[in-house]
Amino acid sequence: MNAENEELWSDPEETDHGSMVSMAVPESLHNASVLSDEAESEDGGSEDSVLSYNFERDGERFFVQEEGRRYNKLNRLYPLPADGEEWQRLSDLHEVLKLCVGGLYQAPITVDRLLAHAEGEEKHILDCGCGGGEWMIEMARKFPHAKVVGVDLAPGLIWEMMPPNCRVEFDDINKPLRHFRGKFDVVHARSCFLGVDNYEQFLDRMVQCLKPGGIVLVVESPLRLTVPEDLAINGGNLEAQVIQMFQWAEDAIEGNGSDVRAIDNLQGLVEEHPLLENKESFVATVPVGRWGGEHIGGLMQENFVKLVHALGPVLLRAGYPAPMVDQWMASVEGALRSPWARFTSRWTYCCASRVLDAEADEDDGEEGE
Ligand SMILES: C[S@@+](CC[C@H](N)C(=O)[O-])C[C@H]1O[C@@H](n2cnc3c(N)ncnc32)[C@H](O)[C@@H]1O
Repeated sequence: MNAENEELWSDPEETDHGSMVSMAVPESLHNASVLSDEAESEDGGSEDSVLSYNFERDGERFFVQEEGRRYNKLNRLYPLPADGEEWQRLSDLHEVLKLCVGGLYQAPITVDRLLAHAEGEEKHILDCGCGGGEWMIEMARKFPHAKVVGVDLAPGLIWEMMPPNCRVEFDDINKPLRHFRGKFDVVHARSCFLGVDNYEQFLDRMVQCLKPGGIVLVVESPLRLTVPEDLAINGGNLEAQVIQMFQWAEDAIEGNGSDVRAIDNLQGLVEEHPLLENKESFVATVPVGRWGGEHIGGLMQENFVKLVHALGPVLLRAGYPAPMVDQWMASVEGALRSPWARFTSRWTYCCASRVLDAEADEDDGEEGE
């Protein structure tokens, strides 16, 4: 059943194969692993992936520096930076997105039941595209008996903050994730669509990673901002340039191979998946600008200003001339900061359970990872 509930937010209340463990790294770094193309271990990780990650030593292998920002090297389909500034943006966004759903996840009764401590049972959580890791770290703290694994092209974790029941793998979620099949009680993906080449297939792979009865939680939002028609200024002139620039950026990212449009029908994808049941979704419309309150609206305004700057290189790579891009970015930033503008961002939250009698699909015809 699809319980759609749309509301306007205005009140804040509401490898290479490095198989050697470096002796020089602190123990906390031993939570990071790099997936190789080869063997898998019993706990689902690659044997070669039992590798500690040391930024000083390994940073060059996973990151590339361009135009003053740092990017992941594993898959350049994902266009946004992987650096301190971006992770701060994600951290602020995390706070807002928790408010949208009243916590870390929707369907709290089901999730809490699935993850409750039970004698003799291991609980497992997977976070696809974990980014700065806030969600997975908070989940690991909330469920200390559960094992949490995050996968990202370039995880931006503050290693010292990683709880002992948390680890990350450097990997591409466009791969089959075969080593994770049937292992997780909860599989989560939030805001990673820009690096996904086929979202329907990605959703299917997430479902395959679930134990029967496990729950998939997906949260996505297009880059495009919207403006309620009755709130547009000067017939929408102020907003038009902002909407246009995000549209160009989305087109460029789509042209590079990301399945950008799929998330416009995220609810449909979940609804139609044959192994999912108890489907629920809602759309949260979040104000972007101080008109929506200093906390949520203000945080979102700064978030989108940072996002605009992160998208500059995307437009340059798509062939737009640098002076034009600079001018757009300046005017879009001005419009985003305008006290008159009434931008909103739409976030779709979906969750569903894997049917109980489903067996892991061992032979799916997919190439190995
Ligand atoms: C916008 S951030 C969101 C991070 C986190 N999920 C959150 O909500 O804070 C998107 C993250 O997804 C990761 N990502 C995108 N495409 C990916 C892919 N194909 N494989 C692995 N990670 C990917 C990026 O590296 C980035 O860290």
